[in-house]
This record gives sequence, structure tokens and C-alpha cells, in this order.
Amino acid sequence: MSTALQIRPRATTPWRLAGRPRKLLLVLHLASVGSWLGIDVTMAVLVFTALGADDPGTRSLCFRALELVAVWPMTISGLTCLVTGVILAYGSKYGLTKYWWVVVKLVLNLLLTTLVLIALRPGVNDMAEQARIQEAGGPAMAPASDLIFPPIVSPTLLMVAVVLSVFKPWGRLRRNR
Ligand code: HEM
Repeated sequence: MSTALQIRPRATTPWRLAGRPRKLLLVLHLASVGSWLGIDVTMAVLVFTALGADDPGTRSLCFRALELVAVWPMTISGLTCLVTGVILAYGSKYGLTKYWWVVVKLVLNLLLTTLVLIALRPGVNDMAEQARIQEAGGPAMAPASDLIFPPIVSPTLLMVAVVLSVFKPWGRLRRNR
């Protein structure tokens, strides 16, 4: 009588985030989304007020305020959203790379936070510096027409991400075998 040695694959349970920790993380995720959108609205008010203002004092005030609110608070909100979103996805049935809606949100989040640092930051710093020079009696500030795009592009893409989160369209990246 021979005994066959059977090697059975060990059933592994994927790590799941459940109950109160999951809810707390979702609250943090939503709070970061809310603050990110709020900063976008503030940025839009400051940029469009500056662009439409005839008074040089109003323009310089707007760009100096923009320097304070736009770059670091937005980066922190974007990174908080990214980190909480990645943990929520990894710790749930959705996974990080299983569903289109999660992958697209990941790409949007990475794109937007990168753009804040490489595209928005230099433009905002430059305008704030020009504002300080103008206030000190130097030449008038140059028009800031490039800064029109961030307050349009950023909230639009964030709203796309919100819609994706709620409707969860397009299903899985790969079909189950
Ligand atoms: C681009 C910025 C993002 C926005 C505006 C956003 C927005 C949202 C919103 C509004 C919800 C709540 C949906 C609901 O409860 O019905 C949510 C949940 C969630 N988000 Fe995000 N998110 C973003 C980034 C990310 C990223 C980068 C990931 C992961 C890669 C992610 C993964 C998730 C997951 C897994 C949930 C939980 C869905 C559920 O349990 O129903 N999010 N997000």
C-alpha cells in the first residue's frame, strides 16, 4: 500500500480592511477630497479676481494669497487622498489594479499632484515674486494668463474622479479565468 504525498496549495485569505478602521480611512479620504476641491475653488476665485482686476494692489494681493493656499495645502490634500485611496483599494475587494475605475483614479491622483509641483508651483511663485517687487515700487506685474488652466483642469478632473468613485464603471481590467 503506497501513501501518496499530497501537496495542497495553502488557501491564503487576502488582507481586508474592515469595520471601523475602513470607515475612518474612508472619512479621511473624503475629507482630503473635500479640502482639495475647496482649495481649487479658492484658487479659481483668486486667479480670476486677479485677471479681472484693474487695481494693481488687488492683483498683487491675490497672487500673494495664492502662493500661500495653492501649493503646499494642495500637495498635502493630494497626497493624503492618494495614500488613503491606495490603502482603501488594497484592503478591499476592489484591489489596486483590478478595476478600471480604481486605476484611472490612481493615474488622475498621481497626475494632479505631480502637476501641482512641476507646473503650478513655479508659475505661482513667479507671480508672487512679481507682486512683491511691484509692492516695493518696482515694475508692474506681467499678465498671468497661464494660470487660467489649473483652476479649470484640476476641479474638472477631480469631479471625474468623484463620479468614477460613485458609479464605478467599466468593470475589471482582466476577466477571471
Ligand atoms: C483623484 C482623486 C480622488 C477622488 C476625488 C476620490 C473620491 C472618492 C469618493 C467620493 C469616494 C466615496 C465613494 C462612495 O463611498 O460611494 C471614494 C472612495 C474610494 N476611493 Fe477614492 N478618490 C480619489 C483617489 C483615489 C485613489 C488614488 C484610490 C486608489 C488607488 C482611490 C480608491 C478609493 C476606494 C477603494 C474607495 C472606496 C469605495 C467603496 O468602498 O465604495 N481613490 N473616493
